[in-house]
Amino acid sequence: MTAERPSITDRIDTATGGMRLRRLRQADWSRRLVRETQLSAADLIWPIFVREGSGEPHPVASMPGVARLSVEDCVEAARRARDLAIPVIALFPYTDPSLRDETGSEALNPENLVCRATRAIKAAVPEVGIMCDVALDPYTSHGHDGVMVGERIVNDESVELLCRQAVVQAEAGCDVIGPSDMMDGRVACIRGALDDAGCRDTMIMAYSAKYASAFYGPFRDAVGSGGMLKGDKRTYQMDYANSDEAVREAAQDLAEGADMIMVKPGLPYLDVLSRLVREFGVPTFAYQTSGEYAMMMAAVGNGWLDGDKAMVETLTAYKRAGASGILTYFSPRVAEMLRG
Ligand code: PBG
Repeated sequence: MTAERPSITDRIDTATGGMRLRRLRQADWSRRLVRETQLSAADLIWPIFVREGSGEPHPVASMPGVARLSVEDCVEAARRARDLAIPVIALFPYTDPSLRDETGSEALNPENLVCRATRAIKAAVPEVGIMCDVALDPYTSHGHDGVMVGERIVNDESVELLCRQAVVQAEAGCDVIGPSDMMDGRVACIRGALDDAGCRDTMIMAYSAKYASAFYGPFRDAVGSGGMLKGDKRTYQMDYANSDEAVREAAQDLAEGADMIMVKPGLPYLDVLSRLVREFGVPTFAYQTSGEYAMMMAAVGNGWLDGDKAMVETLTAYKRAGASGILTYFSPRVAEMLRG
């Protein structure tokens, strides 16, 4: 006598205990009801490239849809950010090559492009936050973030200049200082310099886990530092094989006074992001870099990806991993979409 075989349905009910997970996925309303993370305009930081002069935006070839804007157009972009409820824009300058030198002295000029753009935006659209990078690479003739002596990027001398750069930007009206240079001890020194200058309210978002990455290429085109870069940045940016080291970097930056931390690049480093969120529980941001943007837009341009869907899916992935927000070149596009 052979035992009767259980039906597929019996097997499934035994295996799942009757808990059929597809039940909650059957309708849009139930999917929305149980959705665990929600992307909103308030999660966005919009990086913008600013250039000298007036007139039409200068497209960045490797970043379709992104251009270098005149100061006037940056003000317009800030108005757009306000109308789309994007909380912060991040300004990056394309510095005229004639103003670049060995020590990046233009970074310390209170009348430099970033400072003028910051003042213009603050005057016209005070309700939008402004973030500025602290690093010398848009200003140096060798494309490095710090001071070069021989082949070396010297730490302490660089930090001295970075502190002055931070104060110049804060005095122009910058709300969030983003040290992206990866020098040791820079957050403590910048915090001290800001406080000494009476800028106690200026926030610091530290690029804490910033990796030496292939995904910055299009950004370097946009700020014009790529062609100039001598060697690479591996003596200060992190080795992408490391994750424990990211915890140590973030712990130091927080102990030194960082208000917020960041992981960069984004998508290839979601494990690091998630780890820092769990470890520290402080506002933690991800930078969806120029290379990530370029990769996606190249596929979209070829008709291989649905741009809107890929954009929302990746940005939601950052949120799912625990990000408080994302620096993304998609900011205006996704904010429009979320509004619609
Ligand atoms: C400057 C800086 C870089 C980025 C932000 N700030 C480039 C670099 O470190 O070489 C990259 C941003 C992007 O790729 O979108 N230190």
